[in-house]
Amino acid sequence: MTADPMTVSRELSGLTSSSAVLDAYAESVMNTFGMPKRVFVRGEGCYLWDAEGRRYLDLLSGLAVNVLGHAHPTVLSAVTGQIATLGHVSNFFATPPQVALAERLSSMTGAKEARVFFTNSGTEANEAAFKITRMTGRSTIISTEGAFHGRSMGALALTHNPKYRLPFEPLPGEVIFVPYGDPEALASVVDETVAAVVLEPIQGENGVVVPPAGYLAKARQICDQHGALLWMDEVQTGMGRCGSWLVHIDEGVTADIVTVAKGLGNGFPVGACIATGQAARLLGPGSHGSTFGGNPVAAIAGLAVIAVIERDGLLDHAKALNDHLTAAIMKLDHPMITGVRGRGLLQAVILAKPIAPAVVDAALDAGFVINAPRPDVLRLAPALIISAAELDSFLSVLPSLLDQVAREST
Ligand SMILES: Cc1ncc(COP(=O)(O)O)c(C=O)c1O
Repeated sequence: MTADPMTVSRELSGLTSSSAVLDAYAESVMNTFGMPKRVFVRGEGCYLWDAEGRRYLDLLSGLAVNVLGHAHPTVLSAVTGQIATLGHVSNFFATPPQVALAERLSSMTGAKEARVFFTNSGTEANEAAFKITRMTGRSTIISTEGAFHGRSMGALALTHNPKYRLPFEPLPGEVIFVPYGDPEALASVVDETVAAVVLEPIQGENGVVVPPAGYLAKARQICDQHGALLWMDEVQTGMGRCGSWLVHIDEGVTADIVTVAKGLGNGFPVGACIATGQAARLLGPGSHGSTFGGNPVAAIAGLAVIAVIERDGLLDHAKALNDHLTAAIMKLDHPMITGVRGRGLLQAVILAKPIAPAVVDAALDAGFVINAPRPDVLRLAPALIISAAELDSFLSVLPSLLDQVAREST
């Protein structure tokens, strides 16, 4: 028997136009994100369609998530095959996809011994990591100015933005923030009381901020000097987004704890906290848990994503597009563009004026999805399957979007 989705969800029948969905949204969904700018009903490859049938080139990928674009056939068949075979069991039991994904993720760390705790999000991966640090017997954690690690009380304690933090204090301590990319600042606070240093290899939410070369290696050295754990938050940067599985490994640095999520499931909610060496054994029975974490469907999604990235050479493709995109943006030679920074397919266009939110709106009207992590920064995080020609289609309209917004803002 096949169930018609509309029979299963009769409630959808009145929600056919964008305005109907948005009216209902305003009355039924908590206002934590502001009013949505569009209602999307379908995605395929690098494109999205809204409720009125208009097509958009997705250069944001659900906030650096859909590394294989939308409705990827391999992920689709892996997920549907798994859900038809075994959709869920409790974590009192093991499943082959869970173990296979744990092995794949562990091998990415380059460590002889590594173990994985599975989660449903990046925030939860960071919560697991936070708890691991507490098991060291030390409690101070060093984080960085501009850092974003999530919104739960633990992850928020490591997140720097006062607008996010202040309403929810007191947050779990003790967390010390130092300037990002500054090894001397790090060295000045790490001592024998510090449990861990948590770093994003590139600060995504802070506007794709790339630290100076050698910063991660210096952090490793400082942690080693004082017996502190180095925890790399690769939730945004990992799983191919920057042209490598893990940015810190690409830089020749190893970590004690690595957190990943976003790209791992291509939109299927799955995250992981991977701990190596001694840190891999700090959490024992009863010390942490999750009902859904490591669910076989989520795990098979992760395995499918990794398999396709490997099969299709998408790490190299992302690296090649890094060079193409950077050169093409600078070649625009537009007075509003002061620079471009990032790695692989996590890139920021830096603007001379704080008009990025208005440029995002103008881009949407023109059929392109991008975002503005800062008022003067446009972020591009397209699927790794995107072509140079598709990127160029956006770059060909970017100058006129910037001109239009600059005119309107004066
Ligand atoms: C570096 C980093 N860590 C953690 C998170 C939180 O992940 P999630 O939204 O999946 O909970 C994010 C989300 O943007 C992130 O960029």
